[in-house]
Amino acid sequence: MSKKRVAVLISGRGSNMTALIEAAKAKDYPAEIVLVVSNRPEALGLARARDAGINTAIVDHAQFGGDRQAFERTLDDKLRAHRIDLICLAGFMRLLTPWFVTRWNGRMLNIHPALLPQFKGLHTHRRALAAGVKRHGATVHFVVPEMDAGPIVAQDSIAIGDGDTEETLAARVLEIEHRIYPRALRMVAEGRASLASAGKHEGTR
Ligand code: GAR
Repeated sequence: MSKKRVAVLISGRGSNMTALIEAAKAKDYPAEIVLVVSNRPEALGLARARDAGINTAIVDHAQFGGDRQAFERTLDDKLRAHRIDLICLAGFMRLLTPWFVTRWNGRMLNIHPALLPQFKGLHTHRRALAAGVKRHGATVHFVVPEMDAGPIVAQDSIAIGDGDTEETLAARVLEIEHRIYPRALRMVAEGRASLASAGKHEGTR
């Protein structure tokens, strides 16, 4: 079976993107990262992607003066021009409209630094500490129009210790992210997880 063509969308340093690029180097990995797109020209991940020999593109949302549709159409054109099969959002900090999400329905994943459905949105580590939860982690899920609400493909967690701070939690959770995102992408690319089947098995790893 031919490898799925994947675009990774970033806004920042791109450590999850790097984890996906590394995983995809394996001969038997069912997906190849063919494009990295950033909505921020200064994203550090762009240089990392170029160093890895991956095509990069910038679709700068600021150039579209708040016209979300125009931004997303340009992004969509770029993805189609590269014949992308699957999108991985990896620290992509723009909300996507239902138009875009529907176009890529079942073909777009996101990684979120919390054990969804807990702590949707921003500042997840701070909020986990403030809430006093015993475990915290990361989730890969299919993207649906509602933010951070799509069916879960992979999730893993750690116990929060007495000495944990926002920074230590962020670092510990990031290690989980780097492990579960390549695993989740593999499952989706192999057709072992789909929008219809995801989230039906509690704690799918
Ligand atoms: C990651 O922790 C990712 O889970 C988070 O941003 C970070 C990006 O790091 N994403 C979100 O908060 C999405 N709402 P990276 O650029 O090094 O992968």
